[in-house]
Amino acid sequence: MTICYRAGQASAIAHAAKLLKDGATVVFPTETVYGVGANGLDDAAVQKIFAAKGRPADNPLILHIASLDWLDRLVATVPPLAERLIATFWPGPLTLVLKKSAIVPDAVTAGLDTVALRMPSHPVARAIIAAADLPIAAPSANLSGKPSPTKAAHVVADMMGRVDLIVEDGDVEHGLESTVLDLSVDPPMLLRPGAVTYEQLLAVCGEVVLDATLMTSQSAAKPRAPGMKYRHYAPAADVFVVDLAHSEAEIDALIQSFRAKGNKVRYIAAPAKQLAHQLFALFRSADLEGYDVVLVRAVTTDKIGLAVMNRLLKAAEYRVI
Ligand code: TXA
Ligand code: MG
Repeated sequence: MTICYRAGQASAIAHAAKLLKDGATVVFPTETVYGVGANGLDDAAVQKIFAAKGRPADNPLILHIASLDWLDRLVATVPPLAERLIATFWPGPLTLVLKKSAIVPDAVTAGLDTVALRMPSHPVARAIIAAADLPIAAPSANLSGKPSPTKAAHVVADMMGRVDLIVEDGDVEHGLESTVLDLSVDPPMLLRPGAVTYEQLLAVCGEVVLDATLMTSQSAAKPRAPGMKYRHYAPAADVFVVDLAHSEAEIDALIQSFRAKGNKVRYIAAPAKQLAHQLFALFRSADLEGYDVVLVRAVTTDKIGLAVMNRLLKAAEYRVI
């Protein structure tokens, strides 16, 4: 059975923290997307996350911390660049991949010698993690294969009956998962774009390389973040990216040609920032409303546009028309 709380309810934080200490699973909001958490030092608790999501075991988890005290215990060394990034972007939507320490279980890292760490800024996430006083392993709280949850209704739909407790807190702030930057390689490599942008990272790091698979199909290269190889952002409908170069008239003709073949078509054009907030919710509603085809107009790949296009191209299986 799953217990459900509103974030403001008096005992929500304390109850969530107690369950986490006891090895249970708890869904909580973060500023990026909702996460499903468990004690990141407890192998059996971590296994419950994989079971709740139906997640492949070769996909490592992010450890979430509320205090820098945990940093030294979880990683082998903290390079000076990590210190600068942490000072600039934590708490917030930036995950850093560093060489792990011995206390991090293999279940968290999927056997890698690195660990992904992030300090969320969402007050509810921070309060729960601080009260548990543990590093909390937490992937996005969707069933594996579904878009990450950005609204309370999404986690209820996906996780009710599969976790021990859900703390709801309405819509999340960003709507796309955190930026993942690998600091175990030199120069640092951007494994997943997010709300902390490439431009912002460049300003601190001087040099950042993009994982070759961020914006192109993965037939040629293997992504370095194991999770990025899964097609996990796609709705049941066929998604196509509509090239920015098309005129309004050309787009109208395109929509009509899909409709003429009997498809229920949804067309979405919005600024990058708005798409970041709404893309995953739009995919879920496209499924609920039975669309056959979802056309989304491309955005430029600067700032948050890089993260939007990364998720969008994956969902579209790189089909740009
Ligand atoms: O915003 C977020 O990061 C959300 C919230 C809940 O914090 N969490 C999230 O977790 O998106 P998840 O598990 O859905 O995505 C984690 C990504 C995956 O692509 C995974 O492969 C990658 O981070 N990752 C984790 N550990 C890694 C490691 N040691 N090396 C490379 N990639 C890693
Ligand atoms: Mg995920």
